[in-house]
Amino acid sequence: MSEIAEKVKGLNIPKHVAVIMDGNGRWAQEQGQPRTYGHAAGAEVVENMVEIVSDAGIEFFTVYAFSTENWKRSEEEVSVLFSLFAVYLQKLMKKSMENNVRCFIIGSREGLDKELIDVINELEEKTKENTGLTFNIAINYGGRDEIVRAVKKIAVDLIAGNITPEDISENLISENTDTAGMPDPDLMIRTGGEERISNFLPWQLAYTEFYFTDVNWPDFDEDELVKAIKKFNGRERRFGGVIK
Ligand code: FPP
Repeated sequence: MSEIAEKVKGLNIPKHVAVIMDGNGRWAQEQGQPRTYGHAAGAEVVENMVEIVSDAGIEFFTVYAFSTENWKRSEEEVSVLFSLFAVYLQKLMKKSMENNVRCFIIGSREGLDKELIDVINELEEKTKENTGLTFNIAINYGGRDEIVRAVKKIAVDLIAGNITPEDISENLISENTDTAGMPDPDLMIRTGGEERISNFLPWQLAYTEFYFTDVNWPDFDEDELVKAIKKFNGRERRFGGVIK
């Protein structure tokens, strides 16, 4: 049994965990380094986390790597982030095949370089038969943008006469989001001390438990994940019902 499996033995494991990986820039600046140094360290943590969450028994793992609002950052920072994504997705291809991980890049493809889109398509295609962890990386993702894209898809179906207004349901909307077919997150972790969702999965987080920690993403490790899972176990999820 892996170390993390021992540590979470007997606990209720959230099926889907989503993470806002905040605090990379501050972590780097605290050490007198440029912000981009923090992103590189953060990318290594993501790399390690894939195996850790999988060993913990988590089935779906979704991370926020780049939001539709992050384009406002300096050209240099954006460029470093995209170089990191290109390198990381290549590495992930190999790692996912070794660990039976199925990968999806969620968000809008609009505005992404063709080379990156090619890597994304290859990664999704190559890993689509894998049956272990489902790993979603949100790149150029915005929750409101996702809802707009979902509404547009539904409108096209409506105009084509494939559906009627009565067919529009919560389920139909879910089926047109980027996480179609996946359960909503049970636990959302945000590192770096801020307590907001920053346009991350607003549709899917309706009943999710939130865990906020001051730990910056580059310092997030197996023991921090265990703490979040323990905290999740102390929560009572009623989904709008009453205590029985
Ligand atoms: C937030 O920290 C982090 C990001 C905007 C980028 C997240 C990217 C990574 C963790 C690295 C690459 C990821 C992959 C999947 C390869 P921040 O810069 O806002 O930190 P701050 O709040 O301290 O400024």
